[in-house]
Amino acid sequence: MIAMGCDHGGFALMQQVKAYLDEKGVAYTDLGCYSEASVDYPDIAKKVCAEVVEGRCEKALLFCGTGIGISMAANKVKGIRAAACSDWFSAKFTRLHNDANALCLGGRVVGPGLACEMVDVFLNTEFEGGRHQARIDKIIAIENEQ
Ligand code: RB5
Repeated sequence: MIAMGCDHGGFALMQQVKAYLDEKGVAYTDLGCYSEASVDYPDIAKKVCAEVVEGRCEKALLFCGTGIGISMAANKVKGIRAAACSDWFSAKFTRLHNDANALCLGGRVVGPGLACEMVDVFLNTEFEGGRHQARIDKIIAIENEQ
């Protein structure tokens, strides 16, 4: 199960990505927002990321205007490694090397075709482990020092 959420800046793009996931038969839970009325992206990030760190969902897809604000908020949640991406290579390598569990996209930055391709590679790429695991462990150590 994938947890999804957006603010008003990411609302339209998230609807397009949802339609893509529907076509592909990928199960997701939509935690809002549900219109283009203004909301605060940290509230959405917190709610969506809880689904991941509490084990109800495997990964999160987050959307705001740039993908940046919602990624900043998501990365404050212990256990979340969120990547704001606007290219396919980064969406792939943030899984391979960073074991990212949240992909953040900007509705004012990327079009729906690229966004869907990024979602696809993000959801279907496994973490490489190996030398990258030690680096993830160091990220976790920083988190645990706070
Ligand atoms: C909302 O206008 C906008 O600031 C937000 O969607 C996001 O882009 C912030 O990073």
